[in-house]
Amino acid sequence: LRVLSVASECAPLVKTGGLADVVGALPAALEPLGWRSRILMPAYPGLLERVGRTRRIWREENLFGGPASVHSCRYEGLDLLLLDAPHLYDRPGGPYMVDGHDHHDNHVRFAALSWVGARLAIEGTSDRWRPDVVHAHDWQAGLVPSYLKYAGAQTPSLLTIHNIAFQGIFGPDQLDALHLPTWDFHPDALEYHGLVSTLKAGLVHASKVSTVSPSYAQELTREEFGFGLQGVVSMRGERGELSGILNGIDTEVWNPATDPAIANYSAADPGAKAANRQALIEEFGLEEPAGPLAVVVTRLTHQKGVDLLLEKLPTFIESGGAVVVLGSGDPGYEYALGELAARYPQSVGLHIGYDEPMSHRLYAGADLVLVPSRFEPCGLTQLIGLRYGAIPLVAATGGLRDTVVDATPEHLADGSATGFTFSDIDAGGLGFALGRSVDLYADREAWERLRAQALNTPVDWGTSAAIYAQLFTELI
Ligand code: ADP
Ligand code: GLC
Repeated sequence: LRVLSVASECAPLVKTGGLADVVGALPAALEPLGWRSRILMPAYPGLLERVGRTRRIWREENLFGGPASVHSCRYEGLDLLLLDAPHLYDRPGGPYMVDGHDHHDNHVRFAALSWVGARLAIEGTSDRWRPDVVHAHDWQAGLVPSYLKYAGAQTPSLLTIHNIAFQGIFGPDQLDALHLPTWDFHPDALEYHGLVSTLKAGLVHASKVSTVSPSYAQELTREEFGFGLQGVVSMRGERGELSGILNGIDTEVWNPATDPAIANYSAADPGAKAANRQALIEEFGLEEPAGPLAVVVTRLTHQKGVDLLLEKLPTFIESGGAVVVLGSGDPGYEYALGELAARYPQSVGLHIGYDEPMSHRLYAGADLVLVPSRFEPCGLTQLIGLRYGAIPLVAATGGLRDTVVDATPEHLADGSATGFTFSDIDAGGLGFALGRSVDLYADREAWERLRAQALNTPVDWGTSAAIYAQLFTELI
């Protein structure tokens, strides 16, 4: 059985967040279940050179204003289809932005990706491959189901929402240029408050819809979380066409027992975790803290609750904690974190930027991973934290709620606790949870039991991949 996954990023080739991890990890998890995946993504600058030998399997003279071709290759075990369209993708900047601003034509760039995804599903490729199912990810691939529908294609599609806050919005004057029919521009299809939303289009037209945790699936039907799309999500839910499938992580990439970036350890033999902690303290020139060493690895945005951290970290530090932050994003947060680091040079380490190997050193060295998100579709950093014995301290929302068991006296007693959660997602809630972590850390034995439980928590793709496979099978 064959699935075509259409996405704007895929680890390890291009990654700005968890979407890439998921797109890159699912194929290996689906393969033993009888599903072979190919991943269609843009050939951003340098990618074709990086992947080595490729074979052209599709071409078109004029894809929304320029020539385009699709190149197939194997890369780190993945079967990739790279969409080369220089007028859309060969330019400076990242996948979505340049110099802090969105590329002006993102709607065209990702409509093109979606268009090609649909063409491949309909026509098949020149190496005689045609998917049984198309799996479209987020707004960037949101138009795949629509293009399939307008072409009268039978291929079923699954749209997965990784983050409903990003909706792919543009004006209706673009419909023609993007091969979208003006007759379907109405509130039950493409229209979204007088504009077009590619995510909404996908929500309406996909055979089924999923999101990346059970709690987020529930939350999305509510106004506070739906970002205006709660109505259409609820409608799919009422028809039994919405699933919440928890993300896993690639437990080979994220394995403290074999990770080349760190001193290795495991649940059975956690001894070397202390050496990683020491190395992290030295790397950032910190003083040995009396309390827990926390890390934050994140996009620095409002979603991630960075302002809450800024408010509560001083108290945490004054009660003996230390923190290392790795992230980039909102310049205001970057600046404020810089000030915090300047104020507590012995207790706050800061690296502004994106650094994969450094993130491994942080997870390995940390006692705590802080994730005070206002909303979190799934979240992967808390899963990596569990895997590395870095206790997650998380807001009780979305996938965070589904993956971390709070260290209440009952859960500590019955051995099910794996971290700290807080339900009032504000500075007070975070501060209270941080205080609890400092208290528990002082009890070495209790902390080590908590850590052992975290290290033994399954975070792989096993269960969830089976749910995806089952869903795909139902679709065909
Ligand atoms: P989101 O996708 O919303 O950003 P997730 O928790 O799902 O959040 O995934 C974030 C992923 O990106 C994790 O693998 C995390 O380790 C990684 N990450 C985030 N920021 C950085 C950074 N500055 N450097 C390295 N890795 C990062
Ligand atoms: C999004 C969400 C994050 C999720 C990731 C992968 O970026 O913000 O919570 O883990 O997608 O599904």
